[in-house]
Amino acid sequence: MKASVFVVALIPLVSAWSLELKTTDKRTVNTHGTSDSGCKNLSFSPVLNVNHAKFSPKTDWHTDPGTFELYANKNCDKLSYRNDGGSYSMTARKIRSYKVY
Ligand SMILES: *[C@@H]1O[C@H](CO)[C@@H](O)[C@H](O)[C@H]1NC(C)=O
Repeated sequence: MKASVFVVALIPLVSAWSLELKTTDKRTVNTHGTSDSGCKNLSFSPVLNVNHAKFSPKTDWHTDPGTFELYANKNCDKLSYRNDGGSYSMTARKIRSYKVY
């Protein structure tokens, strides 16, 4: 049955949290995971100048993370922005690492 194939293909998309960052130069960066991310570098060139973030914490079969943090420096140094689940516009800021927990 085609319907069951479709459902199986969909599960990886709905089962993880996702964090989408948009930049002033129209780049979109998507990250996702199933539990605490720990500190992750965002090694993009030119550096991401983020003005919008969308965080979807829903994580099936795991505890949903509640918070995302964006940092100005690598290694999660210099917290620039922190929020919970939702879609947020912000004044543009250069982001070099992030954390989800
Ligand atoms: C992030 O980048 C810094 C500086 O380059 C490096 O020391 C650190 O190990 C990196 N962290 C991760 C999680 O890759």
